[in-house]
Amino acid sequence: MVQSKKAWKRIIADAMAAYAREKGIEAAMPAAEHIVAERPPRPDLGDLGFPMFPYAKLFRTAPAQLAGALASKVQSPARAGRLGEASAEGPYLNVRLDRAAEVASLLAAASAESWGRVDSLAGKKVMIEFSSPNTNKPLHLGHLRNDVIGESLARTMAAAGASLRKINHPNDRGVHICKSMLAYMAYGEGRTPKDEGLKGDHFVGKYYVLFNTLKAERPSAEEEAQELLRKWEAGDADVLELWGRMKTWVLEGIRATYRRTGIDFDLYDFESETYQLGKDEVVKGLERGVFYREEDGSVWANLEDIGLDRKVFLRKDGTSLYITQDIGTAISRHGNWPYDRLIYVVGNEQQYHFKVLFETLKRLGFEWASDLHHLAYGMVNLPSGRMKTREGTVVDADDLIDELALLAAKEIEEKGREDAVGDVDAVAEKVALGALHYYLLQTSPVKDMLYDPEQSLSFTGDTGPYIQYMGARASSILRKHEAGEGRAHAGAADPALLSGDADWELVKRVAAFPEAIEGAALSMEPSVLANYLHDLAADFATWYRDNPVLTNADADLAATRLELVRATKRSFERAAYLLCVPFLESM
Ligand code: ARG
Repeated sequence: MVQSKKAWKRIIADAMAAYAREKGIEAAMPAAEHIVAERPPRPDLGDLGFPMFPYAKLFRTAPAQLAGALASKVQSPARAGRLGEASAEGPYLNVRLDRAAEVASLLAAASAESWGRVDSLAGKKVMIEFSSPNTNKPLHLGHLRNDVIGESLARTMAAAGASLRKINHPNDRGVHICKSMLAYMAYGEGRTPKDEGLKGDHFVGKYYVLFNTLKAERPSAEEEAQELLRKWEAGDADVLELWGRMKTWVLEGIRATYRRTGIDFDLYDFESETYQLGKDEVVKGLERGVFYREEDGSVWANLEDIGLDRKVFLRKDGTSLYITQDIGTAISRHGNWPYDRLIYVVGNEQQYHFKVLFETLKRLGFEWASDLHHLAYGMVNLPSGRMKTREGTVVDADDLIDELALLAAKEIEEKGREDAVGDVDAVAEKVALGALHYYLLQTSPVKDMLYDPEQSLSFTGDTGPYIQYMGARASSILRKHEAGEGRAHAGAADPALLSGDADWELVKRVAAFPEAIEGAALSMEPSVLANYLHDLAADFATWYRDNPVLTNADADLAATRLELVRATKRSFERAAYLLCVPFLESM
């Protein structure tokens, strides 16, 4: 379908050129790839609609008349290419595709290993930084949103042809890390996560919270944490040893959560290894007048001319800041792997930080600064109230997934589907992740959102489990066939048999999968794919309710529809993978 759409644009562009010659119009003609195709509002109007308004001025012709003139010019090349036919309908040139030809090419394309892949980002190197937790506590609900946006986008951009590098940039240094160390020194008595039966990240997080107790007992605690940081920076062996031990614990725990949710990285670059980067660049920039020095010796950039205020880059004692480090990190990342785009998946509260970062890199003369992108995402709230990221009622990621899995298991038991699903706990875990990830991706990243666990787990409606359920229905038809059931064995598939309206709607939906990948990848919006997957599930539900497959009296039709089910299942499976929604063979 993608190919046919491209071919139609070509044909229409050629027809426009011919029409312009006839009318003696010298102006430049629109390029084929710029011709806009829409989806007609009703299926009976055709499969593609080309509005003629944009070209009326160019041709000094009313849109309806232009549509008529082009319609007669496109028929013979369209017939020759088995592309269907066009008709002028008011100011639109509407196209009805050659259904048999489209079905045949869909069934062939969908059975190929490459199904869905497009080349819109071919040859592009995309680096994506996401998750980047602090290594003093476990992941929370906000990280789950960040993680799934990053992972899904990486998978989708790879499917659109880009080569990807996924980076995790944990914050493993600073006074907040020292606070958990100090509390551990006070209360830990040398215990390990194993001793307390806790996951490493929960163990360390417990001491981070205990710092509050310590503060109440020892008014000097804050000052001691600062002192610990100074020792850490000076390379004190004992401090570094404890720091390394606690960091290992946290990371073991966090990595277990990543494994559970299917998130992974090509590279971890820790702030402890990068925090000194950037200072030299600032000194060089100072010489070139990009920065200025205050009387106290601190170094600043003045970005007031573009409404960004003044910003400090080196403190008066010469130490660097978060922004300084990000300058250095971006430069060294580009040096190691010259990217065409670097995407930072970071909360929208850091919008100002990234504006300053990108502007400063531009002023420092790095032309790739325009290839940097902050993918800002909004806060996730639970219905019960705002989620806090520091002390207070943090929604812990592991606890939340545990709870979702319990609820999913209960649902499976209540529906009496234990036998159908097999391993209830394993399936419940996958349903939980499907529910969570789909819900988090269905909303555009920029928006704040409410995560409603019960609603996300509903087996009907716009949810992950509904999609998993429809995918499992497609699988079950194929399984029954393989087990010898149905009429399809006796028939031969013939694409022309799926030209009826009922089959055609599903054919078009399945065939639109590559376009959904392209749309999501280019707009960096996983919600495009989420919407596609939901439409696919809804169309498949209607189709398989109304159109018998295996039980069809016509064996050839049964065999052909079975092929359509196969193509549908492959689209389900792949789209679900791109959204980090586990695919279920049975449910
Ligand atoms: N660790 C930071 C935080 O928790 C996010 C890091 C963002 N990445 C960056 N390159 N500045 O807020």
